[in-house]
Amino acid sequence: MSKRPRIGVLYSRVRVEEKWIFAALDRRGIDYERLDDRLVHFDLDNPEPWRQYDAVLERTISYTNGLYACRIFNIWGIPTVNTAAVAEACGDKLITTALLAQANVPQPNSRVAFTPESALETIETMGYPVVLKPVVGSWGRLLAKVNDRDSAEAILEHKSVLGSVQHSVFYIQEYIEKPGRDIRSVVVGDKVITALYRKSPHWITNTARGGEGELCPVTPELEELSLKAAQAVGGGVLAVDVIEDPKRGLLVNEVNHTMEFHTLQPLSGIDIGDAIVGYTLEAAVKMGVEAGA
Ligand SMILES: Nc1ncnc2c1ncn2[C@@H]1O[C@H](COP(=O)(O)OP(=O)(O)O)[C@@H](O)[C@H]1O
Ligand SMILES: [Mg+2]
Repeated sequence: MSKRPRIGVLYSRVRVEEKWIFAALDRRGIDYERLDDRLVHFDLDNPEPWRQYDAVLERTISYTNGLYACRIFNIWGIPTVNTAAVAEACGDKLITTALLAQANVPQPNSRVAFTPESALETIETMGYPVVLKPVVGSWGRLLAKVNDRDSAEAILEHKSVLGSVQHSVFYIQEYIEKPGRDIRSVVVGDKVITALYRKSPHWITNTARGGEGELCPVTPELEELSLKAAQAVGGGVLAVDVIEDPKRGLLVNEVNHTMEFHTLQPLSGIDIGDAIVGYTLEAAVKMGVEAGA
């Protein structure tokens, strides 16, 4: 017997993105519940209370909370947007890079070492500048552009003495001389719905770090690359960060699985919140319920 889908939205704080998502759910007349991640708790022996949801849209701010919640739901057979596997692939830059490489997606060369000594040796082999990044992180935090051996030694020591466990995995990337901007493209399922330039005089162009948004045309090249990158990490609702290399063209920098779109939605005039809701309903429909209001 088919029924109308019931959606759970797991969130940490109602940011403007969640407001737009709730508005889209209301407009479509969808049966849904807001699940505050500060209040939810799971009895791992009892999935029954959660079976009411045909899909859960995960919008938490904490990577770890979101990942574990999706893992629980997926083990119970409840679809999530995105899946736990995709969250895991995107939430860790090392895993993303490995999957992109496996799928032949062009990206900056990245290397990994586990001690400061071998990291320094790797950096010396690559040549300067390089970028050091925490494998888990966002908003441009704790990224370091390393211009010479002195700063490499200092940063590696600081990371190993002061950093968390994750900082003992040294993720080292070649620095790309990009043209004062990078590109963020938004993939929903098998479509690139819009894209944004993030411009900044600083080498870190995240809008969270003051980068200015400007609409970017979705060229066939950008579309193909973004879809390929999205597919490489398992697909879903994804924001693909793309860097323009003067020599090699478009390179994928990372793929984000819980994107913010407060800049992009007004700029593009595209209702990204509604597109995400549409995709979540499709995930629910795949579980055998009837779509729409
Ligand atoms: N290898 C690189 N070369 C040049 N710029 C980079 C490189 N890696 C990152 N950046 C800049 O830093 C920003 C943040 O890097 P990113 O890897 O996306 O980390 P975060 O997850 O914190 O957003 C990118 O949007 C880009 O502007
Ligand atoms: Mg990024």
